[in-house]
Amino acid sequence: MSKVTVIGAGMVGATCANVLAARNIADEIVLIDIKEGLSEGKMLDMYQAAATTDSKSKLVGCTNDYKKTANSDVVVVTSGIPRKPGMTREELIGTNANIVKSVVSQALAHSPRAIFVIVSNPMDTMAYLTLKSTGLPKNRVIGMGGALDSSRFRCYLAKAAGANIHDVDGMVIGGHGDTTMIPLVSKATVKGVPASQFISKKKLEQVAADTMVGGATLTGLLGTSAWYAPGAAAASVVESVLGDQKRVIPCSCYLEGEYGQEDIMIGVPAVIGRKGIEKIVKIDLTADETEKFAASAAAVRKVNRILVDTKAI
Ligand code: NAI
Ligand code: 2OP
Repeated sequence: MSKVTVIGAGMVGATCANVLAARNIADEIVLIDIKEGLSEGKMLDMYQAAATTDSKSKLVGCTNDYKKTANSDVVVVTSGIPRKPGMTREELIGTNANIVKSVVSQALAHSPRAIFVIVSNPMDTMAYLTLKSTGLPKNRVIGMGGALDSSRFRCYLAKAAGANIHDVDGMVIGGHGDTTMIPLVSKATVKGVPASQFISKKKLEQVAADTMVGGATLTGLLGTSAWYAPGAAAASVVESVLGDQKRVIPCSCYLEGEYGQEDIMIGVPAVIGRKGIEKIVKIDLTADETEKFAASAAAVRKVNRILVDTKAI
């Protein structure tokens, strides 16, 4: 019996729950929100779709009743405000830090063994806040950002190469921010062949630039931040945990010396399985990528410092 709680029944949380349900990733899915009726309504909508989606998951919606989340294997945190056009993810910290800290502590009280997948922005800092405020072991707090950024990278690589997206591979590491993420162009491939054989250097640079503003582009078009790719990316991390799939997914992980960094959560490739972050995968970075990673870590640290300054941790 596997059970997942998704906190926040907004665009990303509900999409994540819908992917989990439609693909039968969890036996029971609880969607919880503070807004009266929202989770109940969205879960009833998903149940009304179950006959056609063939979902077999038990679907529970509730307003702030953490008893219903008890004994979850995984808790996905999407509660908080999203950015509006022109805003950075970092500007959300004041509101979201309070929300994340409060929902995580309530969820943990009812699910003491859960693995936490943090989505709320600024994600690397919210994951760090979760780790520090709960004292959980580092394997049990996973920040979701690299899974999404990598899927955006693969989208733009496929478009530029005129290739099938499933034949395209690429990874994004670093902070989950427009200027802090690092699409690893040097390691991108089309069916195992370096992407540089299919895409010119200039176009590859454009692919990397488009990836970095992939979220901002959608915020501009939609008036709020995206949800289909974020919800699906969060569900893919949950799937790797519940199925003990040991997929290598770039996630925000707590580093203790890896990649030259410590006491920070930032995106690096990791093996994700039943224990959460089971191993951080060390890959060789080019000199340029190493320099960018150090700069990215410095930027994430600057946002983390706000947590200390505001006594959130
Ligand atoms: P949304 O506004 O549609 O949904 C947020 C939900 O959180 C709302 O339904 C709200 O009622 C709920 N909420 C607020 N306070 C709560 C509390 N104390 N307890 C329970 N629920 C509470 O926002 P959306 O688009 O779903 O985004 C959610 C978060 O995810 C934002 O912070 C956004 O920036 C972030 N995000 C992160 C991504 C990533 O890759 N890490 C990608 C996309 C969004
Ligand atoms: C995104 O990348 C804003 O983190 C959100 O779409």
